[in-house]
Amino acid sequence: MAKKVWQQRFAQPLNPQVHRLNRSIDIDWRLYPYDVQVSTVWAQALEQCGLLSAAESTAIREGLETVGREWDQGQFKVAEEDEDIHMAIERRLGELIGDPAKKLHTGRSRNDQVATDLRLYVRDHAGQLGQSIGQVMAILIDMAEEQAKQPFPGYTHLQQAQVLSLGQWLLAHVWSLKSDQAFLAQVAGAAGVCPLGSAALGGSTAPVDRTWIARSLGFDRPSENSVEAVSSRDFVMDLLYGLSRLGIHLSRMAEDFILTSSQEFGYVTLDDSVATGSSLLAHKKNPDVFELLRGKSGRLLGDLTGFMTTVKGLPTGYNKDLQEDKTPLFDAVDNTEILLAALKVTLEGVTFHPEAVDRQVSPYLKAERIVAYLTDKGVAFRDAYGIAGGLVKEAESRGVALEELPLEALQAASPHLDEGLLTVLAEGWSVPAEGIQGGSNQASVKGQIEALRGWLGEQ
Ligand code: ARG
Repeated sequence: MAKKVWQQRFAQPLNPQVHRLNRSIDIDWRLYPYDVQVSTVWAQALEQCGLLSAAESTAIREGLETVGREWDQGQFKVAEEDEDIHMAIERRLGELIGDPAKKLHTGRSRNDQVATDLRLYVRDHAGQLGQSIGQVMAILIDMAEEQAKQPFPGYTHLQQAQVLSLGQWLLAHVWSLKSDQAFLAQVAGAAGVCPLGSAALGGSTAPVDRTWIARSLGFDRPSENSVEAVSSRDFVMDLLYGLSRLGIHLSRMAEDFILTSSQEFGYVTLDDSVATGSSLLAHKKNPDVFELLRGKSGRLLGDLTGFMTTVKGLPTGYNKDLQEDKTPLFDAVDNTEILLAALKVTLEGVTFHPEAVDRQVSPYLKAERIVAYLTDKGVAFRDAYGIAGGLVKEAESRGVALEELPLEALQAASPHLDEGLLTVLAEGWSVPAEGIQGGSNQASVKGQIEALRGWLGEQ
């Protein structure tokens, strides 16, 4: 193995087993575009303060461009001694341009370098994932618009509770996704602080213009404290948390679709192109895509809690433990990208079955109408509620629907219950045109759709 850059300090070469443990290039090679970008700006900053000549700076920047191209084209050859992406790029730069490459690391450490690279990665991916969430939201919003008038049973405790607009039910998921999308925008914003110039931990010895560096890399400002800048991985935890909460929301949505596409519910079917079969049971059509969505949310939480456990209790300053940030971060980002793309095509092929909904809705949900009928006539809510509950019990014991109870039974329960109630009970399910703001009525659903489309338009 070729010598390490720090070999002169040591009497013996690094034991290969330790090198194997220490080495992170297999994971962090993916930071190469950011590392090239960061080094390019660093070379310019060194030139500005006279630590590199114009010729050296140009040679470095052109060399870095070549290195970046080699990675892009899959031609970069990782050497056995390359410990991480930073050292690999520096080595290759030296091979390409010779001596000027040795000056690139002036006044810099991998500690501020990796923190800067990773912040750029987080900003990029938080933005891209936010866009993907927006695409899923747009599909659900269109679906909600189509289904605004469609009655749908809403559940609490997984027991039928109230008949809602299917649009309202779909929009509940959209609002959750909106909050995830907004959170990811905050994550990208909070990561907009540039550590470069903090060096190992005490601040660079090179008098570089840190504000210029930060702006050139697309950050808002340079970090305020060099020690915190190299110690902190808050921005990694933030993105992992953002993806975990997204995962929890998607898992809830997935569970709803899994349940309602079962034979017992039959409210929803998936397009054949997104459903999966069984290797044994010829008739099966499985919602694997939703199950994986639900399953992967566990994995996202694992990435978050695993990394938080790594960080907890570390002393201030850079510690090699922090190298373990990339595995959970990349895992969470990759999996979220995959699942959002699959969710998008799956939702495009969802069909709802109103007839199944009509068949499955419990007739006793109409107890709400009895309560409203009585309270309209001035009966106190608690009394009305008791009367309706008694009638449900009676109907259940007779094995009939509420509207099938004889008039005498209704009047025995309350003298206010007359023929008028039978008409009210006989009406089918529908979504009211108007009602409370934010509630399950067509006007509210329409208003929500406008607000959400407005939000998406601004993203
Ligand atoms: N590969 C390291 C990481 O990802 C880079 C920083 C190494 N710093 C050091 N002082 N050894 O964290």
